[in-house]
Amino acid sequence: MFARSAVRAVAQPSSRLFSSSAARNFKVAVLGAGGGIGQPLSLLLKQDPLVTSLSLYDIRGAPGVAADVGHVDTASEVNGYAADQLDQALEGVKVVVIPAGVPRKPGMTRDDLFNTNASIVRDLAAAVAKSAPEAHILVISNPVNSTVPIVANTLEKADVFDPRRLFGVTTLDVVRATRFLAGVTDAKPSDTPVTVVGGHSGPTIVPILSQANGGKSVTGEKLDALVHRIQFGGDEVVKAKDGAGSATLSMAYAGAKFTNSLLRGLNGEKGVITPTFVKSPLYADQGVDFFASNVELGVDGVEKIHPIGELTAEEQKLLEAAIPELKKNIEKGKNFV
Ligand SMILES: NC(=O)c1ccc[n+]([C@@H]2O[C@H](COP(=O)([O-])OP(=O)(O)OC[C@H]3O[C@@H](n4cnc5c(N)ncnc54)[C@H](O)[C@@H]3O)[C@@H](O)[C@H]2O)c1
Repeated sequence: MFARSAVRAVAQPSSRLFSSSAARNFKVAVLGAGGGIGQPLSLLLKQDPLVTSLSLYDIRGAPGVAADVGHVDTASEVNGYAADQLDQALEGVKVVVIPAGVPRKPGMTRDDLFNTNASIVRDLAAAVAKSAPEAHILVISNPVNSTVPIVANTLEKADVFDPRRLFGVTTLDVVRATRFLAGVTDAKPSDTPVTVVGGHSGPTIVPILSQANGGKSVTGEKLDALVHRIQFGGDEVVKAKDGAGSATLSMAYAGAKFTNSLLRGLNGEKGVITPTFVKSPLYADQGVDFFASNVELGVDGVEKIHPIGELTAEEQKLLEAAIPELKKNIEKGKNFV
């Protein structure tokens, strides 16, 4: 699943791939490693050749997951940490991935999770600010549109916020859009990558299908149905799991995929570009200072935020619907800290 270049980077170090400042020693922590996402995510990260060390933390179960994953025959070392060992888990960590918190049940929106997850994410961010202030933080916990501003404000309060190092993981929307478009056009998913912008909840998820291969061939009711499926694909999983949670396996895949992209950028690889929800100037004049768009990842994290490019009239309408909702979600997060 990982780009061949990542494997090549380890197997055949090439000066072209590495900048002199790039560290090739990537310790990655998963906070919430005992959960539905955390377990398969830890397994996938164990298979990433760019990860040299894995720190697995949860308020329950992480040492067991670490003992299990640690037997996989790849080079990285794995350590598990119990509830009272968060500071140790974060020692020397370069990348922190956060899937801690409760998932949705049928009928819930992501915003319904705010009351529980906001404080979990704030407290974990405060611990990162203290023990690994230079780490890159990848937020999976929902509602991402609010939890990312919560992390930003928590780091700001601790005087360690660097917007180049904070990411909301929206890769699952990209993965779904790509898969669903391929299903409609009968193409291979690898030939139809889709850029998804905005945020990570229902109407704030804006797929730019017109910029994808074959995307313009989908029109009318078929287009409306495809957009709706991309925006509300998460509900399909929540409904099918019938009370047992939301997407975990596809999310673990998406989380590992985004982590690998970031590590490739940190490792000095050029041209690593993927959508992610970051502090962004694109719609800041409309009060939306966090926004997902294509971002180039480099040795310091966010290297370049790409504009969203040309939109069709339908996509423009989707974007206009997303902005006020995003603004509300972002403000709610900021006001919490
Ligand atoms: N970004 C996305 O696209 C996306 C997709 C799916 C789910 N999610 C979100 O990911 C989160 C996790 O989902 P899940 O299905 O893995 O849930 P889960 O309940 O299976 O696992 C969550 C884990 O977090 C742990 N946890 C709770 N509080 C913690 C704390 N303070 N420190 C460390 N760990 C803590 C729990 O013990 C549990 O093991 C949810 O908020 C869900 O909405 C995001």
